[in-house]
Amino acid sequence: MNIFITGGAGYIGSHTCVELLNAGHQVAVFDNFCDSDPEALARVERISGVRPRLYQGDVRDLDVLTHALRDSAATAVIHFAGLKAVGDSVLHPLNYYDNNVLGTLCLLRAMGHCDVKQLVFSSSATVYGDPIELPIPEKHALSANNPYGQTKLVIEKMLRDLYSSDTSWRISILRYFNPVGAHSSGLIGEDPKGTPNNLMPFVAQVAVGRREYLNVWGNDYATPDGTGVRDYIHVVDLALGHVKALERLQSRTECEAFNLGTGIGYSVLDIVRAFEAACGKELPYRIAPRRSGDIAVYYADPSKAKKWLNWEAQRDLKTMCEDSWRWQSTNPLGYG
Ligand code: NAD
Ligand code: UD1
Repeated sequence: MNIFITGGAGYIGSHTCVELLNAGHQVAVFDNFCDSDPEALARVERISGVRPRLYQGDVRDLDVLTHALRDSAATAVIHFAGLKAVGDSVLHPLNYYDNNVLGTLCLLRAMGHCDVKQLVFSSSATVYGDPIELPIPEKHALSANNPYGQTKLVIEKMLRDLYSSDTSWRISILRYFNPVGAHSSGLIGEDPKGTPNNLMPFVAQVAVGRREYLNVWGNDYATPDGTGVRDYIHVVDLALGHVKALERLQSRTECEAFNLGTGIGYSVLDIVRAFEAACGKELPYRIAPRRSGDIAVYYADPSKAKKWLNWEAQRDLKTMCEDSWRWQSTNPLGYG
């Protein structure tokens, strides 16, 4: 299959390029590098032996996007491009509606113009808001606590409305839990700009000496050790979920949402201990007040993806930490 990947130079996109190339597909990447480095695609080539075709542009530029999609001769699209920093979305909400919602609208129009009607979309577990049921199934009520989450909800609704208007579309909405880890080669990984907001990249930067200590945001939650519990999923397992979602769309017209998680919850201190074991160092941390907007516990019910996509996460926490450490220790400053 020939697949067009928006945001393909980013963290999850670059790992998905590798898994699609490994599975024998062709890929074309469309990215404006606002949050990534072209070096990631050179690394994809080192791993897979194939350099993805690159179209540099912004998904909100309909003419450029339509031209690229047509030129690529792709029959399916995976849409990763977007902004993802929750705190930043509270400060600059319009940037998020513009990039994420308008960007997706332009993409759907471009796909319509080119008669490409297969789409895998990157959504997030953030669309479940504060969970009222654990583990969280796809039928859980949807809500959002911040503008970033709202953009994912609006886009999901837009996709369902589109499918209702034209049932020849094939749409898979993938709701990621907490992606972590890196490719086992250590050549590609997460390279956040500035101070990382998310736990695993912060821990990795403490381990490599870029940060003095970790702030643990609260130890008074109703969890076994008082710290927040999440469903961490290895980015390679996540990437493989996209390959499976595309395979399913070959034989079905539908618009369905799937959780991509492991179903297992780990606390912040579980992560610190597992990372210490992976890097062989003690990692300094301090207990700090709760982070505003944080949820105590969430983890996926991954059974729908297992049954419908024939997909299940394989990599455990040890592997997540070891792979993350390999990437961070061999690329202490990321791609830069
Ligand atoms: P990332 O920032 O590493 O990758 C996003 C890519 O999109 C980057 O290469 C960036 O340059 C590109 N991009 C952004 N806006 C663009 C635009 N207007 N035009 C063209 N390219 C543009 O992020 P990621 O972690 O790989 O996340 C990918 C997707 O998955 C995002 O939509 C994100 O919201 C979603 N997601 C991520 C997480 C996570 O924790 N990483 C969790 C849930 C959902
Ligand atoms: C965050 C986002 C969420 C997004 C997800 C994946 C918020 C409020 N939520 O979720 O919308 O979908 O990332 O990108 O930002 N922690 C620390 N110290 C740190 C960093 C994190 O103790 O320096 C703790 C958090 O309090 C939490 C856990 O680690 O308990 C995981 O945090 P994080 O990696 O930011 O992910 P989420 O909070 O799940």
